[in-house]
Formats: sequence, structure tokens, C-alpha cells
Amino acid sequence: METPAQRSKRILSKTLPNQGERVNSAKVIRGEGLHKTYYLGRTELHVLRGVSVTIDPGGLVAITGASGSGKSTLLHVLSGLDVPQRGQVYYNNEPLFEPEGVRQIPVGRDADGAAIDRSGPVQAHGVSRAALRDFEARRNEMRNKRFGFVFQFYHLLPEFDVLENVMLPHMVGSTTAGWLNGRAAAETRALSLLERVGLKERLKHRPNELSGGERQRVSIARALMNEPDILFADEPTGNLDGKTGRAIFDLLQELNTAGQTIVMVTHDRELAREAERTIHLVDGQMETTA
Ligand SMILES: Nc1ncnc2c1ncn2[C@@H]1O[C@H](COP(=O)(O)OP(=O)(O)OP(=O)(O)O)[C@@H](O)[C@H]1O
Ligand SMILES: [Mg+2]
Repeated sequence: METPAQRSKRILSKTLPNQGERVNSAKVIRGEGLHKTYYLGRTELHVLRGVSVTIDPGGLVAITGASGSGKSTLLHVLSGLDVPQRGQVYYNNEPLFEPEGVRQIPVGRDADGAAIDRSGPVQAHGVSRAALRDFEARRNEMRNKRFGFVFQFYHLLPEFDVLENVMLPHMVGSTTAGWLNGRAAAETRALSLLERVGLKERLKHRPNELSGGERQRVSIARALMNEPDILFADEPTGNLDGKTGRAIFDLLQELNTAGQTIVMVTHDRELAREAERTIHLVDGQMETTA
């Protein structure tokens, strides 16, 4: 007889469509049939309506589209920050999300402001909450170790200096002993990244003592700290003037030329044109240009 733990494991390891194709695919990240809907009161907002996309290793991909077209949502789903109702994302052939029926998805608020949770009927599927927590922990681990993130508004910690901000990803998830042991190596790496982004002379500055372009350089160095396979950037130049934005984009291009895979959301058509590939979102679906 199958134990509840074995049953949970079997259901969660069950992969979604295209199993045969999965095995041969050497792509780094692949989204298939992604659907994301938000519920607000009585309104259903179908933000992603069947988006399928493959990001090749070493690529520089720009996601474009009108405001509200779902660019950030797509980025969040591809990077496991947000959970789609339908579809799957494979990262190195591993599914990022649980099978559709057992996903836990807080998707919006009802008319009274209470959270709507369209989670799968966990009990009905016989998957234990502990097994779901393990799956989610694995996704979080992938996200922390293999993906780097850059945001429009930097998300730096104001009470830490530049060097400390860049070292943060090393601290996250380390035990105290691990942190102390790895500290010297982490500091060396942080210093070399800060040199690379041109901030060697700003190590002791706090974020509020930096210009916007400098803040974004810190956040790029921080995103690179764990040597991510993929760098996700949501409007990295969106808060900067043209010239500073250009310099940040040049830096991203330089990193890409050195082999860094980058997926970037941008409003800036000129920059998007220079990307290797553009994914243009219209009405929750995608128009691709090579
Ligand atoms: N948590 C949420 N709950 C409800 N609706 C949401 C939520 N997040 C986003 N939306 C809605 O989904 C739509 C797509 O949002 P998204 O942030 O992906 O757009 P975007 O293309 O990144 O836009 P922008 O260019 O303005 O950043 C928007 O209309 C937004 O209002
Ligand atoms: Mg956005």
C-alpha cells in the first residue's frame, strides 16, 4: 500500500505535458501554455492567456508591450516569483510549479477586500501540506541560487552600505557558521563585481548617498553575487534619464557578451531593438520577432 508520503511524492514529481520532449531539451528556461488570471471583486483579469516561450542559454531577451500588458507578470512567472493557474515553467528540464490541480495560488481580493485563494483541492488529491511545502522550498532555493533579480526601484536596503548590499545574497540562506566561513570569499567576489560595475570608489556609501544609475549598478552587482544562470530585470532603466539608462543597458549587454543570460522587461523601444530577441505582449498573448 502506498503511504501518504509516497503518494504526495508521486503526484508532485508527475510532470506536465510533453514529457518526451522535455528529456531532449537543453534549453535553460521554458514556459509552456502559461495562464495567469487576477480576480478583483467581480472582475476577472486574464493577464497571461497561453504564453509559451523558450529562453536560450546566453541570450538577451527583451519583453515589451503596453503598460498593463502583463510584462512584469510574465517575468515573475518565468522566475518562479508568482504562480500561474495553468501551464508550466521548466528550468533545466525541472518543473518549477506543482501539477496544476495542487497549486496554491492566492489570486486576488473579493469585493470586501478579503483574499481570494483559488488553491487546488489539496486534500482531494491526497497531497500533504508538508510535501507541498517541500516543493515550494525547492522552488525558492532555485530562485535564490540560480536566478538574479534587478528591479526598477533597486530594492536596496537603506541601512546597509554598498558592499554589504552586494553581499546580502550570500547571507541569505547561510547558517551563521557558513556565513562566517564564506565571508572572506564573498567579500572578494563582491569587490570584484563592484569594480566591474564601476563602483569601487563607493563601497561605504549608503543607497541614499548614490545617484540612480549608481544604485542600479549596486543592484546589478548584488544580482550577480550568486553567479545566477539567468538575470531577470524588470524595467532596469525605467527610473533613469536617457543617458544613465543607456549606460546601464550597455553594462547589461557587456555582461551578456560575457555569457550571462538576461531576460529584461523594458518600455524603451530603442533598447529593445538592440536585444537579440523581443517578446512583445498584446492582450496576454505573445507576438515574437526574431
Ligand atoms: N496582484 C495583482 N492583483 C490584481 N491585479 C494585478 C495584480 N498584479 C497585476 N495586476 C494587473 O495585471 C495587469 C498586468 O500587470 P503587469 O504588472 O504584469 O503589467 P506590466 O505590463 O508590467 O505593466 P507596466 O508596464 O505598467 O509595468 C495590470 O492590469 C495589473 O493591474
Ligand atoms: Mg511592469
